[in-house]
Amino acid sequence: MNQNVPSYTGDIAAQQIDPAKEYSTENQEIAFSDEQHAIWADLFAGIHQPYLMEHICAEWKKGMELLALSPKGIPTVRHLIDHITPRTGWRIERTVVRYTLADDWYKKFAQRVFLITDYLRTRDQMEFTPEPDMFHDIFGHLPFLTQEFYATIEDKFAPAYMKATMEEREVIKRLAWYSTEFGLVVQDNRFTVFGAGIISGRKELTRAIMEFYRLGRDNVIDYSKDVYQQLNQHFLANKINLFRIIDGVNALHQKGQMSSADEGWNVVLGLYKSLGIKPEGIFGGEVILVPFDVETISRIPKTVYAFNPMLFVSRSLDEMEAILDSYLKPIAMRN
Ligand SMILES: [Fe+2]
Repeated sequence: MNQNVPSYTGDIAAQQIDPAKEYSTENQEIAFSDEQHAIWADLFAGIHQPYLMEHICAEWKKGMELLALSPKGIPTVRHLIDHITPRTGWRIERTVVRYTLADDWYKKFAQRVFLITDYLRTRDQMEFTPEPDMFHDIFGHLPFLTQEFYATIEDKFAPAYMKATMEEREVIKRLAWYSTEFGLVVQDNRFTVFGAGIISGRKELTRAIMEFYRLGRDNVIDYSKDVYQQLNQHFLANKINLFRIIDGVNALHQKGQMSSADEGWNVVLGLYKSLGIKPEGIFGGEVILVPFDVETISRIPKTVYAFNPMLFVSRSLDEMEAILDSYLKPIAMRN
């Protein structure tokens, strides 16, 4: 191997917004090819299945109706703005950047602008793409953005990010990642999917749902009793091992060994072995569910873009909001 070539770590190359290369406000639309519309239609149909949809939270499904997306093709930016801006005040802008740097992203957020990339995944990335594409942005996030509660959540990040120290900014990025991108929430005493990163990726969505079922099957969670309370008890009983896993995942990530979604779980199983952790209980599946909590999330020092070994569950969307507030508000209120 060429020593001068840095090894791929699973991070996506971020890009700065260059106004000279961006879409103008007047011209946001793209003439997509038939094949691009067909890819959209197949992605849409792949996730819009009753056996998957029943595990997505109620607010996303309500938002899907409000957003009135066509299953047949990519919507225009005009359609998105018409269905979102009158409801929540948020605007949608297209960008040529595939993965916007957090600083640029939050500057737009502060103006209540949600960026959607002009990139669409290819046929061989139908199940999962580590790079967020326009299907992720539109299908995963925008149904939520038709509703005030989501606008309120998204409104919290930018004011805190602008005043945060570099260290706090890393925590803020993580909090956004494990809530709006990869969060889960309890509804009707069931685990449901809230994060756009899970909703827009069939592989991620299936992996989460399989874990919901496994927890019941392996008697880790009794779905006839309070599921959040049980999850919290498992968390408290296993906190030391969970933190050892987080530290281990980070060490492996630094070595570039967490870069593949396919191999990710095998890497974690290897870690279990070296740490002497038995793959049972909350560690018995292919993802670990833990309560959404700032202390645990800020311990994850780096986001593993290609693979998330842990997903965070909120007791309710109100509680997720309260936990976000507990960290973000004091920072946002600084002089
Ligand atoms: Fe996203």
